[in-house]
Amino acid sequence: MAFDHLLVERGDAVALVTVNRPAVLNALNAATLDELRRVALDLKHDSSVRAIILTGAGEKSFVAGADINELAVQTPTTGREHALRGQHVFDLIENLGKPVIAAINGYALGGGCELAMACTLRLAADTARLGQPEINLGIIPGYAGSQRLARLVGKGKAMELILTGTQITAAEAERIGLVNRVVPAMELMTEARKLAAGLARNAPIAMQYIINAINKGLEMPLAEASAFEAALFGLVASTEDMREGTTAFLEKRKPEFKGR
Ligand code: COA
Repeated sequence: MAFDHLLVERGDAVALVTVNRPAVLNALNAATLDELRRVALDLKHDSSVRAIILTGAGEKSFVAGADINELAVQTPTTGREHALRGQHVFDLIENLGKPVIAAINGYALGGGCELAMACTLRLAADTARLGQPEINLGIIPGYAGSQRLARLVGKGKAMELILTGTQITAAEAERIGLVNRVVPAMELMTEARKLAAGLARNAPIAMQYIINAINKGLEMPLAEASAFEAALFGLVASTEDMREGTTAFLEKRKPEFKGR
């Protein structure tokens, strides 16, 4: 699969996707969003891929937002379509059924912060800056940033960050729960690869159900969400990986999960 704005590297069960428009700090134009949609679908259906790392090209930026050249000319109709298209791609990434790690190597602003929030886990370089600066352009987040940020860090902090457009440091992002962990910039990719390799050894169907239980469950009342979890718990009991995991424990050896 050929891409103009992405670099895709496949290793041992781990795929690395790099948004590659460094001249504009990896801003997401419509073509890049469409490539992200295509690569997400491809990696979702490739059973040899068990974890994915998403990062930005260059040392300065993860993704500095939606491409402002395209935002500047939108109309009410195209604006709504623009937001829906981005939301569709980010929903796909959030619900890929395998872990997607955002390796935030610099600016994650606007659509970049929204993209990172759609990922399953977020590792940030200590030099990274995050924020939703749309208010400075007279607009609002359009790729569900107002919703995911409020769910990740709570209503009060989301209101503050989106209303003020403030950029925060990686350390502050970790403190409020916007990123999982901060690491020295030089170690970001090594740490992301280590995390991805560990996840890639886990039982794929169990990981898929965990992602599903948390994502879908958060949208349901507790009793319904708990029933949904119980149904997935029942389903996972039908897998070979469940037998392998429990047997390996009892036999005091490491499990080898096959994704069946
Ligand atoms: N869309 C389009 N182009 C962008 C962009 C975006 N979101 N973010 C950066 N660029 C471009 C700049 O226009 C500049 O292009 P040029 O070299 O042709 O002038 C290039 O990327 C480098 O950016 P620059 O602003 O010169 O870098 P900086 O280090 O001074 O500032 C930022 C970095 C991230 C603070 C600044 O680029 C910025 O505020 N970007 C917009 C962030 C934003 O509002 N995102 C939300 C959009 S919804």
